[in-house]
Amino acid sequence: MVTTPTENVTKGLEDVIAGTTSICTINPANESLLYRGYSATELAEHAIFEEVIHLLVEGRLPKKRELKRVVKLLVQERKLPKKLVKVLKQLPDTANPMSVLRTAVSFLGAIEDNKQYSIDETKQIAYSLIGKLPFALMTWYHVSRGQSVPKVTKTRSYAARFLQLVTGREPDELEERIMNASLILYAEHEFNASTFSARVVTSTLSDIYSAVTAAIGALKGPLHGGANEAAMELILKFSSPEDAERGIMDMLSKKQKIMGFGHRVYKKGDSRSYVMKHYSKDLAERKNQTKLFEIAEAIEKTVKAQKGLFPNADFYSAVAYYLMGVPIPLYTPIFVLSRMSGWSAHILEQQSDNRLIRPRALYHGPQQLDYVPNDRR
Ligand SMILES: CC(C)(COP(=O)(O)OP(=O)(O)OC[C@H]1O[C@@H](n2cnc3c(N)ncnc32)[C@H](O)[C@@H]1OP(=O)(O)O)[C@@H](O)C(=O)NCCC(=O)NCCS
Repeated sequence: MVTTPTENVTKGLEDVIAGTTSICTINPANESLLYRGYSATELAEHAIFEEVIHLLVEGRLPKKRELKRVVKLLVQERKLPKKLVKVLKQLPDTANPMSVLRTAVSFLGAIEDNKQYSIDETKQIAYSLIGKLPFALMTWYHVSRGQSVPKVTKTRSYAARFLQLVTGREPDELEERIMNASLILYAEHEFNASTFSARVVTSTLSDIYSAVTAAIGALKGPLHGGANEAAMELILKFSSPEDAERGIMDMLSKKQKIMGFGHRVYKKGDSRSYVMKHYSKDLAERKNQTKLFEIAEAIEKTVKAQKGLFPNADFYSAVAYYLMGVPIPLYTPIFVLSRMSGWSAHILEQQSDNRLIRPRALYHGPQQLDYVPNDRR
């Protein structure tokens, strides 16, 4: 017998426990983010992104030899199939880079066997996608602008390779460290909208390509991944900290949302944002662009004073990317490159202990209407 749900509904599923995971949690005592038990901010300070990929995908930090293997594998996997390059070249330069990534993953899935993948095969595809996506994105980006794709030094880190692909120059040590930290901090965040989308798709016994395609679609929205770009566009509108304060007061009086602020889960502050604030300050000083940082800080102070809201991970990441010369439309795609590791871990976790995710809805519509034939309506 079909049961009728009668429970109250929590809009947006806020605070609803929708499953179990051993990948990530937020420590309720201090709101710190933990990846498999390790503090994400500590990892951002001490680890390299490749270590965190291993931690999330394999369930533990790699030994020296294992880390070498992951680093090598990701370098090898950067090679794109010719058919994909052909597709990327056909996409217009006006395409949204998130749509480019979504298309790239979907196309890679379409040229595969289309069989049901074992857990090991899913894992191999995960590493392959993590290795390929920066090259797919930047191939489209440069080629569609009539530029050649910068050659990258094979031996450097994932973070350095990506920056070099974007800017065409070798990043300095501080830039590499900041991009590395940002990739680590964005890597995983429990049952956020994109990860949950990936798990729902996986739960139907669909494949990792489909799950990641869905996740990228979810991350594209401005309430999720898209906030870092909107935050930067906002910061750039202001000419001084005073101008920023006035502008933000005006926006808040019109009940407009300030992108890069607030969070569904964190209520006291986002630990990731403190790390990125510290780094963007260092970078601003190094690049003699302290005014930009001061404007960002004035926005932070005003939003905090007026609404009690704090910056989330997106706000100061945006400032750091800008100072490193990353074009704004690539900010949300960086989130994809990073979150691929978290999505992969969740897809594998769902696949290894699966039950179809299929919630119910509380119905508010009409009941038992009589059908009136079309010619009598
Ligand atoms: C992240 C976010 C979607 C969380 O949303 P949520 O839990 O559904 O919270 P709500 O949107 O219901 O907001 C609750 C209240 O705070 C206000 N608020 C939340 N974020 C705000 C923001 N960034 N700027 C201004 N007001 C904000 C809302 O207007 C609402 O006020 P009200 O009760 O007077 O109507 C929301 O904070 C937001 O839209 N932030 C901007 C986008 C962003 O930075 N996203 C990245 C998330 S990591």
